[in-house]
Amino acid sequence: MKQDMIVILDLGSHENTVLARAIRALGVYSEIYPHDITAAELKALPNVKGIIINGGPNHVIDGVEIDVLPEIYEAGFPVMAAGHDKALCDVKLAQFTDNEEEIKAAVKGFVFDTCKAEANWNMKNFVADQIELVRRQVGDKKVLLALSGGVDSSVVAALLLKAIGNNLVCVHVNHGLMRKGESEAVVEMFKNQLNANLIYIDATDRFLSKLENVADPEEKRKIIGGEFIRVFEEEARKLEGISYLGQGTIYPDIVESGTKTAKCVKSHHNVGGLPEDLQFELVEPLKQLFKDEVRACGLELGLPYEMVYRQPFPGPGLGVRCLGAITRDRLEAVRESDAILREEFAKAGLDKTVWQYFTVVPDFKSVGVRDNARSYDWPVIIRAVNTIDAMTATIEQVDWAILMKITDRILNEVKTVNRVCYDMSPKPSATIEWE
Ligand code: XMP
Repeated sequence: MKQDMIVILDLGSHENTVLARAIRALGVYSEIYPHDITAAELKALPNVKGIIINGGPNHVIDGVEIDVLPEIYEAGFPVMAAGHDKALCDVKLAQFTDNEEEIKAAVKGFVFDTCKAEANWNMKNFVADQIELVRRQVGDKKVLLALSGGVDSSVVAALLLKAIGNNLVCVHVNHGLMRKGESEAVVEMFKNQLNANLIYIDATDRFLSKLENVADPEEKRKIIGGEFIRVFEEEARKLEGISYLGQGTIYPDIVESGTKTAKCVKSHHNVGGLPEDLQFELVEPLKQLFKDEVRACGLELGLPYEMVYRQPFPGPGLGVRCLGAITRDRLEAVRESDAILREEFAKAGLDKTVWQYFTVVPDFKSVGVRDNARSYDWPVIIRAVNTIDAMTATIEQVDWAILMKITDRILNEVKTVNRVCYDMSPKPSATIEWE
């Protein structure tokens, strides 16, 4: 193993991730583990140099005060205790704020002088270590991966491919709600350029027929998610000798699903909905990384910038941007107008600065004029927003000239559209997506 590690034991602090990031910012790798880890489990982790027990307001669960196992103090690692009121011999005590610079100053001496950790955390070493860990975990068994083409699944695919080559079986399900050229790009990159073992499934007709006449947004989402699992399951059953399921789980997914002490923010959804008799052991090499680190990891693995810095795209895809009951003509209008928007944003350099931008096609028509005759066609709504965490968002104040160019192109190139609008709403009151 190439990199030293400081282990953070989660004793109910809200600041574990800030602490982990601060230690990583010092150049030392850090991972967070539950408070009840055993000494044996701790010793099995690679290159542990020291432990920080990070206490906080959630250290009382259901009226019972939780603590780490006493054996942890005897495991032979230097220990620092933070946010604790207990005084323990041979244990450094600290009180952390949520300011990264202050935390760095508070832990620096412990990390480098007491633990003698080396500042050897970088993506090159991380990738090398993960490749070794994956090889140790799966041996010569096969791993199945749902490759959506999103940042996380693409980076996992590239990493697993380096680790186990053709023992990685990728399945890309095209639900017909992908953006223009997106499924083709996944196939081109992974199958043609990286020679991955990739099964491509065009399930467009199947998804669209299930979605026919379904107008309720939640119902649409449920159908898309459920059908995705069924298609994936059917493929998995056809394959032989698969023992593991690769997943692009990243650290925020784990935090949002709730750790032992953190309150559950929202349930994490992935391919975890597979039936009981089709349960695989999981391979999740990115599960300790923050989003920006996942991107850096992708670049280290040689994935192109556009793939790694791709804007967020919802699982249900264009399905939630073709409002109400999906029809093929409106779906094409969303796809084509979205492609034009993306092309023009890229030309103007806005693809590098705006967080998310897309088009929406509602399920009502308006009157217009085309070729000196009355038209009755769909409108397109442009949405472009900036946000830090997607919980709140502000609109991008796009230059008029750029908006007019985009409008002109949509009206000329998408024949079923006669009107273009710009969505001025921040979140709240609106959400980023329309459904
Ligand atoms: P809202 O519309 O809730 O969106 O303001 C916040 C962010 O989440 C994305 N989003 C999703 N991402 N699966 C995803 O992976 C989903 O079902 C989903 N729904 C919304 C949305 O694009 C925005 O970036």
